[in-house]
Formats: sequence, C-alpha cells, structure tokens
Amino acid sequence: MCGIIGYIGPKQVTPLLLEALRRLEYRGYDSAGVAVLSEPVTGEAPRELQVVRCRGKLSELEGQLAEGAPVGHVGIGHTRWATHGRPSDENAHPHRFRSVAVVHNGIIENYLLLKRSLSDRGHTFSSETDTEIIAHLIWEELAQVEPGPDRLLLATRRALKLVEGAYAVVVLCTDTPDEIVCAKSASPLVVGLGDGENLIASDVPALLPHTRRVIFLEEGDLAQLTRSRVRVVGLDGIERQRPVRQITWSLLAAEKDGYKHFMLKEIHEQPRAVTDTLRGRLLHSPPSALLDGFEIDPTQVRRLFILACGTSYHASLVGKYLIESLARIPVEVDLASEFRYRDPIVKPGDLVVAVSQSGETADTLAAIREAQKKGAQVFSIANVLDSSIPRASSHSLYTHAGPEIGVASTKAFTTQLIALALLALHLGRRSGNLSEEAAADFVHELTALPAKLSQVLHTAEQLQQLARTYGHARDMLYLGRGPQFPIALEGALKLKEISYIHAEGFAAGEMKHGPIALIDEGMPVLVLAPHDGGYEKVLSNLSEVKARGGRVIAITTEGDRSLTALADHVVEVPAVHPLLAPVITVVPLQLFAYYVADFKGTDVDQPRNLAKSVTVE
Ligand code: G6P
Repeated sequence: MCGIIGYIGPKQVTPLLLEALRRLEYRGYDSAGVAVLSEPVTGEAPRELQVVRCRGKLSELEGQLAEGAPVGHVGIGHTRWATHGRPSDENAHPHRFRSVAVVHNGIIENYLLLKRSLSDRGHTFSSETDTEIIAHLIWEELAQVEPGPDRLLLATRRALKLVEGAYAVVVLCTDTPDEIVCAKSASPLVVGLGDGENLIASDVPALLPHTRRVIFLEEGDLAQLTRSRVRVVGLDGIERQRPVRQITWSLLAAEKDGYKHFMLKEIHEQPRAVTDTLRGRLLHSPPSALLDGFEIDPTQVRRLFILACGTSYHASLVGKYLIESLARIPVEVDLASEFRYRDPIVKPGDLVVAVSQSGETADTLAAIREAQKKGAQVFSIANVLDSSIPRASSHSLYTHAGPEIGVASTKAFTTQLIALALLALHLGRRSGNLSEEAAADFVHELTALPAKLSQVLHTAEQLQQLARTYGHARDMLYLGRGPQFPIALEGALKLKEISYIHAEGFAAGEMKHGPIALIDEGMPVLVLAPHDGGYEKVLSNLSEVKARGGRVIAITTEGDRSLTALADHVVEVPAVHPLLAPVITVVPLQLFAYYVADFKGTDVDQPRNLAKSVTVE
C-alpha cells in the first residue's frame, strides 16, 4: 500500500510532489506528507529538513501547505494506507530522525525487535509506525560511515540489512543534500529518468508529466539519484544494470479523461482494453491463441490451479468454466490467502495460474512462491508491467487494460476474462478437445466482443434510472448459474465496495437452500439470465422470487420475450457465446454499482477502508 514520490532537480519540489501524490492517491489515502531539503541561505549553511504531514486525504495536506509550502529542489512525498499505527498526524510519513527523513511502503516484520534494541541504545520514537525505525537505523549507520560520495547509500544499505519484511523506501538526508537514496524489497519502485532531474515513484502515472524513460527496480535493488545520474546497486553493494524502458501510455490514460470518476472512465474503456488484450494473440487459421511465447503441452500438466484474490478471484472462477469446457482439463480455483496456509497438495508437473491486476497482491505472491517451492510451474496473468507477480512467474500474459485507478476493478476484470479465454482456447486446441470448427467460432466470438461491449455501454442510462429506484435499498441479492454465478459474486462485490449496500451473490440453484428466506419487498434481486444452458432454470428461480414479493432486475439477451412478464425490470445485452457472456453481463452490474454509489454520494474511486493494491497480508 502507500504511494511514494521523490524528486531531485531544478524544479520547485513541493508542487511537483503534490501533483505526483495526487496520481498515487489510489494506493492509499489515510494521511499524506512531504519532506523538502531547504536551500542553503549562505554558502556553507547547513540544510534543513522541512516536513509537513497530516492525517486525511491529500486535500488536507494541500490545505496546510497553502499556508506556507517548503521551498527547495529535493524532496520526498507519501500517501499512506495504514498498516502499523492508526491513521494520524504522528503516523503520517515522512518519518524523520535528526538529519534523516524516510517514506516507506510495506511492512517491517522485525520492527518490534529493532525498536527494542534502538530503545536500549537511547532512541525515543515519535510514532507507532514500523517506518520510523528505518530513519533511526540509517542515522546510526551514517555515524559509522566515513564521509564520502556514497555515504548515504552505504548507510542505507547497512541499515536495510538489519530489516526483514517488505519495503519500498526513499531516504533524504541533510548531510548529503545532492542525492536521494531508495531501496526496494517486495514493494514496487520505479525510477524516472529526466533531463537534469531524476525521480522515484511507486508507480508510473506519477512520473509521466516529467518523463517516459523509466527503470523498474528489482528485488534487493538500491538506487542513488542525483540530478544527473542514477546508480543501481544490490544490498551487497555490487552495481546492477537495469534496462531502461520507454512507457507508451498516454498521460491522459492515467487521468480521468473528462469522466466524473476514474471508475466510470474505466468502465467505458473496456472495449479498448479488450481489443488491446486480444491484439496479436488470436490465430484464425488454424484457429488458436498465442500466449506471448508460452507454449503449454496439456499432456504435461498434471493439475491446473488458478490463484487470486478479490475481483481477480471472480475472474478465475469464470476461468474454470472456460478451461474445463474448452480443454476438459480439471481446474481448481483457490483464494490465494487460503491456498498458502493449507499446505496445498501441489507437485512438480502442476501448473499454477496467478491472476492479479496489480501484480503486487501479497497473498497471491506468497501463494505462488509456496507453489513454486513445491515444484509447480507458475504462469501469471497481470496488468501491471514488470510487477512482482509476473517477475516471480516463469511466464506471463499481460492484460493491457492500462492503469486502473478506481479501487473497484472493472476493466482489469474483463481483460482478465479475455486472458483466461485465450488460455482456454490455447489449451483446448492443444489438448485436442476443441474441434477446429468450435475454435473458429470461439475466435470469431472473441473478435466480436469489443463491439458488443460498446453496445452494452448504451445501457448506462437505464442503469442510472434503476440506481435511483433502488439506491435506498439496505440489502440486495445477485443470482446466476454456471459462468454467470461468478458474475453474481462480482456484481455483489462491486455494489458492496463502493455503495456500502450489503449485497450477496448466490448460485441461483442454491436459493432454495437458504437465501429464499430473505426475500420480501425490501430485497431487490438482480438475476443474470442470458440465453445459455441455465436460462430455463434461472427463470424458475426468478418466479420463486416473484412469488415471495421480491423486486427483480433481470439481465438477459436482447430480444427475450419471456422475462418482461416476470421481472420488474429487464436489461437487454447483446447475444454472445455463453462462455464469453460474463464479459458482457458484468458491465450492467458495474454501471449499476457505480450509479448507486454516485447517487448516494459515496467516494466512488476511493471507497472507505479499501485500497487498490494490497501488498500486505
Ligand atoms: C484489492 C482491490 C481489488 C482487487 C484485489 C486483488 O482488494 O481493491 O479490486 O480485486 O485487491 O488485487 P489484484 O491486484 O491482485 O488483482
């Protein structure tokens, strides 16, 4: 969690840090702060650290800075999602001890031990955070290091050797005012290479106004940034060469693009995101799918697991239907947080597919490491380039959704479905279970999806109306069968996440085993009823709801004649292959959740208590 930025160069640093933090706020937003090195007043006058930080969103910090912002050209900034220590002014970053200020993303696991030994040496602390000890440790090490050009780098390196856990750290020191030092272990950091200036950030959007040339730091990397140079070394002090990458995302793609919220923008980006995810991966003759160079021989796959969390888990559940139907390979789908702790039966020859938007989810990362330890091969489906999960996998397929800023995942979900469909097609053809004719039909259906997604977005107005009608509901049920069951789960999750309405998704067939007891006029029920193998059964479930006075919104295939008489509201979506229908039917559910939240006036892009990327357990 947490967003980090650091800058060294000729520009006034405070406004620059604030702008970058604004782009990183989706990573956490319970407090924010900056630390800036003052300019020397006279030649040799010592520099000072000016730290301003406070609890609350970035706007709170901006308010404080409006009364007098630190002036300088070297600084660091942070936007926080609390892990150790409640959200408060004292726990907000940057944390400072004497000449040293740090910002940190991650968790220091042995911090209590370190804090105790620092206390024994006379240190006192001003916060409850694990981060503060890093500033103390670096300060202690600085005292041991001879003055010289690499003093801060060496002291940071030594201090971090004592630290266990996850960190992305950026360090500023008054004794070494012409450099910033940063280090990465498990949490992301990207260096931005400018002209006479350099930057460091948790994520690319913060860098885009300044540069498109970046270096993704890797595990155990430390980097020393001066105005004109960036050096990367390992914890062992040995220089490391890291490739410079050119970012092709437009700056606009990381901004709202005229929409009221990022989430709405991202819902509308889905036709483009799906097109990009399919680009160059479909073969027409003979019909099949390419997985960016990864070839899977299904006869060599003993068992197939899919691991993920949150929305990515729902996509994975759809993946099971896709792979089992097209390739007839049994698939086990697991929540990464459960898998890692249940001593899973995984062996060499097993293939684990990790699905993650951010590529940084701690539970998913730990789960794949567990699987690797037991000899499995890991293939990941991720959205964020060079993030930790793809880097830990032997092969990856990126979802090309572009940056997803809204905490509630939308375009990442639909593109994950596409990636899983490509995987299923690939396996189906190679296993011999998918005929050439069926594969050609599937390829044709995949190709038609972006246009159908554009079409389904036209339901937005109807969903906005429905949101006004049902926005006062206290609870809601979502029902679906087969591949629509995970969509019922996902629709309910979307509503919960952003509107705070209690919602549950159920397999429609399970209605009679409990949820039916909840039905009355106060419980709206959203039923997923596209024309597929489960349609008739869903109609019976829907009638059961109606018979008990429930109000029903049905999502069905255009041209449906049966539902108008049964449901209170019918939302029609384009006809599509039943296994790809989740890509389409989820869109009205995303729009419904969005408009309910907007109607209720909740914070759509940054819902309470949630974070986009959960890099802690
Ligand atoms: C968080 C986000 C969810 C996301 C989940 C898994 O809870 O708020 O939107 O689905 O993490 O994240 P991942 O990046 O691994 O897909």
